[in-house]
Amino acid sequence: MHEIIEELEDKRNLAKMGGGQKRIDAQHSKGKLTARERIVILLDEGSFEEWDIFVEHRCTDFGMQEKTIPGDGVVTGYGTINGRLVFVYSQDFTVFGGSLSETHAEKICKVMDQAMKVGAPVIGINDSGGARIQEGVASLGGYADVFQRNVMASGVIPQISLIMGPCAGGAVYSPSITDFIFMVEDSSYMFVTGPEVVKTVTHETVSAEDLGGATTHTSKSGVADLSFENDVQALLMTRRFFNFIPLNNKDKSPLRETSDIQGREEKSLDTLIPDNPNLPYDMKELLEKVVDEGDFFELQPNYAKNIIIGFGRMDGVTVGFVANQPMVLAGCLDINSSIKGARFVRFCDSFNIPIVTFVDVPGFMPGTSQEYGGIITHGAKLLYAYAECTVPKVTLITRKAYGGAYDVMASKHLRGDVNLAWPSAEIAVMGPKGAVEIIFREEAKDPEKLGQRTEEYRRKFANPFVAGSRGFIDDVILPRHTRERISRSLAMLKGKDVKNPWKKHGNIPL
Ligand code: HXC
Repeated sequence: MHEIIEELEDKRNLAKMGGGQKRIDAQHSKGKLTARERIVILLDEGSFEEWDIFVEHRCTDFGMQEKTIPGDGVVTGYGTINGRLVFVYSQDFTVFGGSLSETHAEKICKVMDQAMKVGAPVIGINDSGGARIQEGVASLGGYADVFQRNVMASGVIPQISLIMGPCAGGAVYSPSITDFIFMVEDSSYMFVTGPEVVKTVTHETVSAEDLGGATTHTSKSGVADLSFENDVQALLMTRRFFNFIPLNNKDKSPLRETSDIQGREEKSLDTLIPDNPNLPYDMKELLEKVVDEGDFFELQPNYAKNIIIGFGRMDGVTVGFVANQPMVLAGCLDINSSIKGARFVRFCDSFNIPIVTFVDVPGFMPGTSQEYGGIITHGAKLLYAYAECTVPKVTLITRKAYGGAYDVMASKHLRGDVNLAWPSAEIAVMGPKGAVEIIFREEAKDPEKLGQRTEEYRRKFANPFVAGSRGFIDDVILPRHTRERISRSLAMLKGKDVKNPWKKHGNIPL
């Protein structure tokens, strides 16, 4: 027995060394942590239960039978984050470059299957050279097995991908199906084809960083949600992020005690809206002044900045916030912001997270690039997402709510539960000047008459009372009371139970 225990310890220690000290040092020299070090930071101390540490690959080609490393390049298991269950896999770049073999994939599938059975999120740490080249098609099959599980788990358990090294070729499609992607600056990249292939096919010269680094994906492509300076920061922020989300689609978000006052008045909000309706203001100020303790966790802050998305809490409960940002493109909805908003709304709806929407939107972005790019289809995504969503929806119009964009932004007509407006709200088909130029085309040629008609239109329609008279707005509130009124609305909506008609699934305009 003593000998077996020793052998067990030897095997375990061998597995824990991954590809050996030299490769661990190489990993560190790139500013990267090892797969195990990452898990230690991500999970609560001592909570990690490892599975399949003794799994080895079955490949016998290219001399691979001589090269087996227990664990086969991925560390898998479960543990807790602030006491809440989570399954993890962490690819070990020191073992065959973290490449995915058949058995490596089986290990990932095993934790995903278990996570689905018990209803707990999966966090995947990606650091891999892609398909294990020596295994060929067996490895490709392994990827597809993971993809299939990603799809089945979508909307059932939250899935988070951390990209902490290479993630290339087909390997990018697992993270892209998951709910959130966080990347590390300068040490991670994602692309379908790398710089060499790009050069051969399109004759473009581009570095791996420019093609698929963290900055590219958080500001240009919108593929990733957040980027962090290093592994430690990414892992610690993932822990913080995890505290906002429920464990599965039947669970409630974790309740977090707050010392913030439920009906806290924010007098400064009374002067947030500038007197001149064409001047911008920072919508983030409103978000931070409304949520518990000013703790707003923004996602995709550098992409499609004309819409803001992220999580905050009201009375300790997680809320998803969507808000137009008048500081960027006057808060217009365009292709990218519609997609960004729609995906976030659907995550919240999948996981029972109420949605609060702050509206200041002058309309959809005009222009050929938008029309040719399919703003019709993409704008419809946001409309569709809000319309199908059954979680509590509270909407506040702070200033402009014009045209189709008024309808789209969680209006009463798309089953908004509580629709509020500030006295500065302007709810109309379009801005006063544009409207007058159309309906009084002749008069509008005279600047004086244009001014008079514009003022007349503004008085008549650029206010919240016409919508209020029809019940499209439930109440007009003072800005200082915003937190209190939203909090009361959400409390009233706790028991909301709305079901959409049975269907296999809808056909969102993709
Ligand atoms: C087997 C691999 C490997 C792979 C790396 N290694 N990638 N082994 N299969 N895919 C091994 C290397 O042989 C090396 O082993 C060790 O990992 C570290 O690799 P290096 O090249 O020394 O590291 P680095 O210079 O940091 O470069 C990392 C890299 C490069 C950019 C990822 O290794 C690389 O280009 N790898 C190939 C990437 C690739 O083409 N993958 C297939 C993509 S197609 P030693 O023993 O020297 O330490 C794909 C299809 C999936 O993934 C389709 C799914 C649908």
